[in-house]
Amino acid sequence: MGLRAVGLLLLVTLLTMPGSGAEVCGEGEYLYEGICCVLCPAGTYVAQHCNTSHPWGKCTSCTEGRDYTAHANGLEECLLCRQCKDDQITSRTCTVTSDTECQCKQGYFCPAEGCEICQRCSQMCPEGKEIVQICNATMDLGCGLPDQGNRYLTWMTVIILFAVVFAGLLVFYTIRKCKSDKATLSDKAERGPVHKWLKYMNHPIGFVRLFLPAPWPGSQHFMYS
Ligand SMILES: *[C@@H]1O[C@H](CO)[C@@H](O)[C@H](O)[C@H]1NC(C)=O
Ligand SMILES: *[C@@H]1O[C@H](CO)[C@@H](O)[C@H](O)[C@H]1NC(C)=O
Repeated sequence: MGLRAVGLLLLVTLLTMPGSGAEVCGEGEYLYEGICCVLCPAGTYVAQHCNTSHPWGKCTSCTEGRDYTAHANGLEECLLCRQCKDDQITSRTCTVTSDTECQCKQGYFCPAEGCEICQRCSQMCPEGKEIVQICNATMDLGCGLPDQGNRYLTWMTVIILFAVVFAGLLVFYTIRKCKSDKATLSDKAERGPVHKWLKYMNHPIGFVRLFLPAPWPGSQHFMYS
């Protein structure tokens, strides 16, 4: 490949490089047939491009309710307004500078980002969950765990129930033990921890008098000091 061929290739590359035109024109301008034209403002389109004798082209307003341009532009026609689909309602009508805004009908939702079709809202929450978010145009019915207050009450009920059952069992067992202890009163070895517990409960200083098991050697001394 000769030096001239390389030079030609370089020139062609430079000329066809994307953005080479944009660098020529200033801010708020666009390139049309080698000339920089001033952009038409939002709400209008370019009815006639500029030329060497007139750097300002001819801008014409979009048609209200039919088409729009949201930004300054070099477009030869305005953009058509969006038509809301059958499952949607118009939340904002089209103006010459903004497109139509649509949202799902009552009872339907569609995520705000990337909405394709409106989906029917969930009707109820699964068992054990409650509504934490009412369905609106952008969010489905939200379900969550019951609130903290209710959960606290539930736990309190469970704990109290357990305590009552435990106390009942203890009383029942104690009475039975007492009866069997009376039957074999002479046999001191038969006396179990429940008997000791009873003795402690009945006696004002029962704990001190009570025989303490071996693992707490210093306890009796501690109680007196
Ligand atoms: C240049 O543009 C102006 C306005 O945009 C237009 O009236 C005129 O006819 C144009 N001239 C030529 C030669 O295209
Ligand atoms: C739907 O509810 C969510 C959360 O409460 C809120 O962020 C969003 O803006 C609401 N959407 C509409 C269309 O009201």
